[in-house]
Amino acid sequence: MKLAPLFDHGLSLVFSCYDNEDAVRDFDVMKDYPVNNYFFTRSLEYNLRYVPKSLKINQLHDDDYDYIMHGIDMVLPKVYVDKMWGLSNDTWGAEELNAAHSVIDSRFFTMGKKVKQYEKIFAKKFGSKYAIMSNSGSSANLLTMAALLYSGRLKRGDEILVTAVSWSTTYFPISQMGFKIRFVDINIETLNVDAETLEKAITPATRAVMLVNLLGNPNAFDAIQAVCDKHNLLLLEDNCESMGATYNGKMAGTFGLIGSFSTYFSHHLCTMEGGMNVTDDEELYHYMLSIRSHGWTRHLPKESSIYTKLDDPFYESFNFIMPGFNVRPLEIEAATGIEQLNKLDDFIEQRRKNAILFKESIESETDFLTQKEIGKSSWFGFAIILPARVAGSSIS
Ligand SMILES: Cc1ncc(COP(=O)(O)O)c(C=O)c1O
Repeated sequence: MKLAPLFDHGLSLVFSCYDNEDAVRDFDVMKDYPVNNYFFTRSLEYNLRYVPKSLKINQLHDDDYDYIMHGIDMVLPKVYVDKMWGLSNDTWGAEELNAAHSVIDSRFFTMGKKVKQYEKIFAKKFGSKYAIMSNSGSSANLLTMAALLYSGRLKRGDEILVTAVSWSTTYFPISQMGFKIRFVDINIETLNVDAETLEKAITPATRAVMLVNLLGNPNAFDAIQAVCDKHNLLLLEDNCESMGATYNGKMAGTFGLIGSFSTYFSHHLCTMEGGMNVTDDEELYHYMLSIRSHGWTRHLPKESSIYTKLDDPFYESFNFIMPGFNVRPLEIEAATGIEQLNKLDDFIEQRRKNAILFKESIESETDFLTQKEIGKSSWFGFAIILPARVAGSSIS
């Protein structure tokens, strides 16, 4: 691949580690393609963005990793605009299609027993007491923050330390619920946050840490939990990029008080759109049950630490006790999720194989940085950080 000046200053490339063999084929295609023009894209179909001429790549520095890592998931020759070469492809088989059809046949579309069933098996699979599905990973993060606010575990103005490289909706729910964001830089090798850097960022206003497991890589939870314990901070996880990753045999997403997941297209599981929160904290679970649906009591058990229901089902069907949202998922999403969950282990195994192949393909390039695993990554993406010296040169 001919490398153009675009790569002059350590620009990152992130390839998607698809769940299937196509990734390998596409990676090979990439290697041979003469690159003259580039565009950046996260979703090829809808989000094509040419490199703006005005972009001064040489002005990018560490603070810009957010843009680099997430604005640019892949850099491709311009010619591929016409070929629509997908960043990811769908992993659905006959099982998912049949599950979707059976929901359509049932004429029961809104949140119901499929969602309940999916939540139950999801919680079991990840080793959490409770799982609560919503319509996206972004909504899952919103539920996390809202539950912390309305339960009084955090109050408006409290400061939350957050991984500096992530998706927009890791951050927005934090400020939307009135908390203050303090960014913590990532380690360039692991692309996650180091415990020492985290500890240094703590201020007297810090009350919680929102940790992102970036691109499939779990964080060093032992060291980070120790910092949180020492400073009495809540640990929260945005695990939307790292389903199936493990640290010391425990699933990423289950280390925090609440962990979030995304099942958007291209993620480890695909339910079209979809999100999930897991927690072992019953009270926060109940808050999320209410906040997910308008702030009502309908989905709460009779007795809860947040509310005791009256013996009047009609009243409790229309009783609103806190400022909620409507971020409910659909039955069709849950039905496909049930089928996808059966395949998760295979998907992750394939992603791990692809990552090994990618690594082997570039191992001769000793100063190309790839993401160093902490624990076992589930390889949401494959990051390559290029050194300045390769500007304008070629690799084979
Ligand atoms: C770290 C992170 N958080 C949140 C989200 C949002 O998930 P969703 O697209 O399901 O809203 C994403 C999306 O990829 C993400 O990468």
